Amino acid sequence: MKVLVVGSGAREHALVRALRADPQVGRLTAAPGNAGIAAEVPVRALDVTDPQAVAALAAELAVDLVVIGPEVPLVAGAGDAVRAAGIACFGPSAAAARLEGSKAFAKEIMAAAGVPTAAARVCTALPDCEAAFDDLGAPFVVKADGLAAGKGVVVTDDWQAAMAHAAECLAGPGGRVVVEEYLAGPEVSLFCLTDGTTVVPLQPAQDFKRALDGDRGPNTGGMGAYSPLPWCPGDLAERVVREVAQPTVDELRRRGTPFAGLLYAGLALTAQGVRVIEFNARFGDPETQVVLARLRTPLAGLLHAAATGRLGEVGELDWSEEAAVGVVVAAKDYPGQPRTGDPVGGLATAAAVPGASVLHAGTLREGDRTVSAGGRVLTVVGTGPDVEAARAVAYAAVERVDLPGSHHRTDIALAAVRGEIHLPAS
Ligand code: AMP
Ligand code: GLY
Repeated sequence: MKVLVVGSGAREHALVRALRADPQVGRLTAAPGNAGIAAEVPVRALDVTDPQAVAALAAELAVDLVVIGPEVPLVAGAGDAVRAAGIACFGPSAAAARLEGSKAFAKEIMAAAGVPTAAARVCTALPDCEAAFDDLGAPFVVKADGLAAGKGVVVTDDWQAAMAHAAECLAGPGGRVVVEEYLAGPEVSLFCLTDGTTVVPLQPAQDFKRALDGDRGPNTGGMGAYSPLPWCPGDLAERVVREVAQPTVDELRRRGTPFAGLLYAGLALTAQGVRVIEFNARFGDPETQVVLARLRTPLAGLLHAAATGRLGEVGELDWSEEAAVGVVVAAKDYPGQPRTGDPVGGLATAAAVPGASVLHAGTLREGDRTVSAGGRVLTVVGTGPDVEAARAVAYAAVERVDLPGSHHRTDIALAAVRGEIHLPAS
């Protein structure tokens, strides 16, 4: 099978590693990739925001499968363009990707499908926001309606700050803002493969969205993740498929816009049960880096089955007993305006820690050096017999990375290791 991976993050580096390990994969290409990906497979230049360019590259390479990593090309219609060229694509149509592209649309689908989520108001003017804050109470949850790379959400007890973010969103494209009920309880990311009909869950992971230790600081794309979740009920994936993923997939198919690709459910486990915080239309970053570190079933066959309506033929997935912890190394000033162009050192010594792997995100090759080229620069993944051991491996490797001005969280998976995560009593 010839495969093209679209994207340039550590998520795509993890996808490339997993696809390379699948004996079914003959030629693997990535576009545009990054320094780490380019060291492993051929890369091609690509404007991922241009659906026709994605389809043209897939046709030129005569691939059997395109795997689209990021949300931007999906929402722009890259999945449609690739399929129109007669090539199988792992990634939903633009119509189905609206589940991620518009929070208001996601709420509408959930209401129609009976999927439990936070009560919400879609507001188009500040007085509506004020009324919504009064109705729903603090903490206030204020979300930009469109794509915002994980940075469009403000959760705050401060009425002024909530109003300020609402005003900013209303002034932006679309002129809409979503005000939500606050959901209390631990968060879980569950990835579900789907071909539009059948749903196959991967194993749950937890993501760390805030920039700083102790879940302080601004929201980011994600600063770390781990899997499995030792504190999590064993039947969670099954429950989420039944209550969330299957009804959502069925509703989209019923509307004539089937979702084929990865349905990412961001969940809160509240005292009232599982609630959807958000949907994404693609693999999560950095959760993918830890989930794929544990998946033993060859990936290309799975993604190809999802892309071609044959997911029902895929049997039980095979998982490693090991745990994985991923720590994101971010550039100076991320998630603001990150500094780029710094030399990234220690990559080989970090990767040499037994059980560690170093996945590149914002990196670029400049002569014989690797330099930073984005906000999230690396995800360093550690694996081990349990979360504590995996965590120790990940941090031992992070310590060997040398990137001037960089920062990372020091508490990824720490609460889980200490047994401090509790499900709220119902
Ligand atoms: P989102 O981009 O919708 O995933 O939101 C980013 C982060 O904001 C989530 O991972 C949560 O930590 C937090 N968040 C979003 N919505 C809510 C909510 N309704 N209640 C509590 N926290 C939320
Ligand atoms: N880790 C959060 C996301 O991928 O959106």
